[in-house]
Amino acid sequence: MLPPNSDVVLDVRGLTKHFPVGGGGPFGLGGERRLLHAVDDVSFTLRRGKILALVGESGSGKSTIARLLVRLYPPTAGEALFHGTDVMKLRGRRQLLKYRGQVQMVFQDPFGSLNPVKTVAHHILRPLAIHKEAAGGRDAQTKVHQLLRTVGLTPPDEVARKYPHQLSGGQRQRVSFARALAVNPEVVLADEPISMLDVSIRMGILNMMAALRDERGLSYLYITHDLASARYIADDTMVLYAGHVAEVGPSDALMAEPLHPYTQLLLSAVPNPAAGLSGPAEDLRSFSRSVPEALGLGGKGVLHGALGLRHRGEAAGRQIMLLGVVPDRFDGREVGAVGG
Ligand SMILES: Nc1ncnc2c1ncn2[C@@H]1O[C@H](COP(=O)(O)OP(=O)(O)OP(=O)(O)O)[C@@H](O)[C@H]1O
Ligand SMILES: [Mg+2]
Repeated sequence: MLPPNSDVVLDVRGLTKHFPVGGGGPFGLGGERRLLHAVDDVSFTLRRGKILALVGESGSGKSTIARLLVRLYPPTAGEALFHGTDVMKLRGRRQLLKYRGQVQMVFQDPFGSLNPVKTVAHHILRPLAIHKEAAGGRDAQTKVHQLLRTVGLTPPDEVARKYPHQLSGGQRQRVSFARALAVNPEVVLADEPISMLDVSIRMGILNMMAALRDERGLSYLYITHDLASARYIADDTMVLYAGHVAEVGPSDALMAEPLHPYTQLLLSAVPNPAAGLSGPAEDLRSFSRSVPEALGLGGKGVLHGALGLRHRGEAAGRQIMLLGVVPDRFDGREVGAVGG
C-alpha cells in the first residue's frame, strides 16, 4: 500500500494486453489465430511533477501502454490506479470524461491530430467547452490566449486565427500541448512528441515540457525512441523489452551505468546519448539485432549472476525486473533467458 499523502499520481500494476492476430479459421482471413503479447505484466508509478520516460525498440509496447491508460481499449489484465481509483473500471461517459480531463494525451504527428480546416482557436476552445472549463465568450478567449502564451505561441491573438498549415511543425506541436493543457490535466501521456520534428526545434519542445512540469507540477509519461532526450528531460527512465519492463531507475544513473543486460545492449547501440540532441538523431528504431543472440543467450540457460544483479540494482536505487525468459511475442513461450 502507498503511504497517505503519497505523491503518486498513477500507479500501474500488472498491466497486460494481448491482441488476437490471424484469421483463425476457414472464414477468417487465413492463418493461425494467435495472441500477440503486446504488453505483459507492466508495473510502474508516475509521481506528481515528474517525467517518466518509456523507452524501447519499435514494437516493444510503448504506445499500447499509453492507449490502455487513456482507455482506448480494455486491458487483458492489470489495473491503473489514478489517485487510488482503478481507471480500468471507470464506466459511462461521465466518469470517462472526468478522467480524460485529468489525463491527456499528445501524439507524435501534430498535423494528423489537428483539423486542417479549423483555426488554432477552435482546437483549444473545443476541449474548454466539452469539459466546461470556461464560462464562454470573453472568458474562453482569454483562456485560449493564456494557453497559447503558456506554450510559447505569441502574439496569441494572431496565432489563434491561424490554420494548422500556416504553422511550423514545432508550432503545431505546441498547439497540441495547448489543447491538452486546456482542461488543466495532472498527467500528460506524450507519445513521441518530438520524433517528427526537426532536430533543431526538439530542444524547445522538451524545455517547454520541463517548464510545465516544474511550474505546474504536471506529470508526464514521455514515450520515446531517443535515449538522449530521455536523459535530458526525464527524472526516471523505464526500459521496455518485448512488452516487459527490463529496468527502471533515475535517468542519469541508468544511462551512466545500465545494470540490466538489455539496457546495456540498447545503450551500446546508441554510443553517445548526450550527443544525440544536437547531432543527428540516434534512436532505437533501427535497433534490430536479435536480442537473445546479441546477449549470447540462444538457449534456455539462465543467466548467471541474476541474483547479484538484483542486489546491485537495489543498492543503486534501481528497480530491475528480471525477465526470466525472453518471451515469444506470440504465445509467451521461452525463447531464451535474460537476467534470471
Ligand atoms: N490494435 C492492435 N492489434 C494488433 N496488434 C497490435 C495492435 N496495436 C499494437 N499491436 C502490436 O503490439 C505490439 C506493440 O505495439 P506498440 O504500437 O505498442 O509498439 P511501440 O513500442 O509503440 O512501437 P513504435 O516505437 O514503433 O511506435 C506490436 O507488435 C504491434 O504490432
Ligand atoms: Mg508507438
